[in-house]
Amino acid sequence: KPPITVRALAEKLNQKAFKIIADLMDLGVFANVNQTMDPDCARAICAKYGYRFELEKRERHAQVPAAPPRKKAELDPTDRPEDLRPRPPVVTVMGHVDHGKTTLLDAIRKSNVAAKEVGGITQHIGAYTISFPHPERKGELAQITFLDTPGHAAFSAMRARGANVTDIVVLVVAADDGVMPQTIEALNHARAAGVPIIVAINKMDHPAANPLKVRQQLQEQGLIPDDWGGDTIFVELSALTKKGVDKLLEMILLQADLLELKANPNRPAVGNIIESGISPGGPTVTALVRKGTLRVGDALLCGPYYGKVRALINEDGERLKEAGPSVAVKVLGLNGVPEPGSEFTVVEDERKAREIAEQRQEALRTRAAETRAKVTLENLFQVL
Ligand code: GTP
Ligand code: MG
Repeated sequence: KPPITVRALAEKLNQKAFKIIADLMDLGVFANVNQTMDPDCARAICAKYGYRFELEKRERHAQVPAAPPRKKAELDPTDRPEDLRPRPPVVTVMGHVDHGKTTLLDAIRKSNVAAKEVGGITQHIGAYTISFPHPERKGELAQITFLDTPGHAAFSAMRARGANVTDIVVLVVAADDGVMPQTIEALNHARAAGVPIIVAINKMDHPAANPLKVRQQLQEQGLIPDDWGGDTIFVELSALTKKGVDKLLEMILLQADLLELKANPNRPAVGNIIESGISPGGPTVTALVRKGTLRVGDALLCGPYYGKVRALINEDGERLKEAGPSVAVKVLGLNGVPEPGSEFTVVEDERKAREIAEQRQEALRTRAAETRAKVTLENLFQVL
């Protein structure tokens, strides 16, 4: 027998299928009624309704059924090793308050020589991709995507949803201030995510700059500078004067080369929403493509929302026809505002996207009604 479907499980538990869909959403799995689920999810849901889930014993080659549906893209049979192509690194900048993250990201934006400054108003979006001549490989264009918004909370939230979208963390430490509580916090987040860390010692122009102290403090935290025989890259810079910023970009590319980052660009896009909101043109999201290529006209599904991609806009306000792996773009066309961190997928057509989105909407409504009923009941008990 194949793994259990949402519908079958709902029947066994004597629950509405939408309720099970909502339960799965709580577990970070987006499924429709006909989809199967993995045993861990089934077990968790059974437990919720007071049942025990048992895996059926199979003869000899008993196989644990498929992974949760959201991982399906990962398991896509078309993602064969030979389909994978190098992709740009996705970098998150973290650090203590006022250590210069925003100033650094601004400085990097401006070193974006591919950007046409004339006429266009540079829009600040939560994630942006810069292109510049590769410092080592003549004639080649290098790209890096920076995530701006993720304060630590967003970073962890995405990680909790299983979306480790960051390849490299740049840990900004002000040379005059040294390691502070949020430096350590950021360090722990980066470590938990298992991504390599590049230390940017910022504010080197400051009279009180003490890069040696920063190195010592971080060494105590187990980040050994490479020039001290460790394997962490340290770059001294000033986001204000921009001295050293190019060096940082170079080091990011170097680190990225070591990681051999790859993705299949030739498949329907899958990625995550970095930020979302409403603009005069309707719901607008900043999307980070993880794999595949997102194109204008694609049918997009994102949590309980769907739509046809009307426009893709980059950091410089330019309209793009498509965005490949690791590229961050503003997307217009969804019919609602999804939560940052949520996953988007491109599906065959808009009808399909709508069908699944509506199922999810229904699941959310069921859940909301339940919560209201429960709250009312609780209030009642309080009154009594
Ligand atoms: P939060 O977003 O509040 O966490 O701060 P942040 O890390 O983004 O710091 P931000 O870029 O806002 O910079 C804080 C202050 O430090 C500002 O007054 C900057 O002008 C100043 N600053 C940033 N980089 C440098 C630098 O390289 N040298 C000097 N001297 N000052 C800097
Ligand atoms: Mg800032």
